[in-house]
Amino acid sequence: MIGVFDSGIGGLTVVRALMECLPGYDVLYFGDTARTPYGSKSPSTVIRYAIENTEFLLSEGAQAVVLACNTASSVAPDLLRRRYDLPFFEVISPAAEMAVQSSRKGRIGIIGTRATVASGVYEALIQKLRPEYRVVASACPLLVPLVEEGWLKKPETAMIVKKYLRPLKANQIDTLILGCTHYPLVADLIQAKIGRRVRVIDSSTGVANSMKNAIEQDTDLQKRLKRNGRYRFFVSDTTPQFENIARSILKRPIRLETHAG
Ligand code: DGL
Repeated sequence: MIGVFDSGIGGLTVVRALMECLPGYDVLYFGDTARTPYGSKSPSTVIRYAIENTEFLLSEGAQAVVLACNTASSVAPDLLRRRYDLPFFEVISPAAEMAVQSSRKGRIGIIGTRATVASGVYEALIQKLRPEYRVVASACPLLVPLVEEGWLKKPETAMIVKKYLRPLKANQIDTLILGCTHYPLVADLIQAKIGRRVRVIDSSTGVANSMKNAIEQDTDLQKRLKRNGRYRFFVSDTTPQFENIARSILKRPIRLETHAG
């Protein structure tokens, strides 16, 4: 079973990508809705949550864990890999690689939570791959609550997106990384505001492809991950919006289970 965790609903965009890329693989999702947002917490708190979420996924039978959260992916993977003997997949490196490959002018923009932007992980990875590239990052703290609230098409959301993207537009970026798994849910809005010529990279598709490659190369992992088409969805707190938004992301009704976190 592939264990996936996020601070809330955003990680379902990763589940959607996994369903497309690895059809039939059993997936166990945990959205830590009681403690969201992670993006305004300190690295040590996010690391503690990542450990607790991993413990829960392991207790439910996960054989590999996907950090479907850029904030957790920016601070926790090294420690998790040292602590547990199982494969961890994070969303940042695949998105950084996709951005580097897609950029024509070497001007990459990143939007994410405050914690992700403060970690500087995207910049470090991109500069390692292409030291000559220019990278501009902008924290967009209001977008996660707007998405969790289901305000995906509201004019207020469009106005806020436009304001957040202004410095990136001024820097004439040609590629924009959606460095938060909530943002694909407002990708159309972001694309419209940043302009059609900018290539928008969704961090959820990259991790699904990197997991697919890892499974293809690892016969042990192939044997351990079951393919019964079973999906389970846990949250640490139920909200009325969650099921509706989840249904619109995954295009199927889901049954939510609760784990207190
Ligand atoms: N979805 C998470 C991410 O990708 C963060 C949202 C939050 O702040 O909890 O960073």
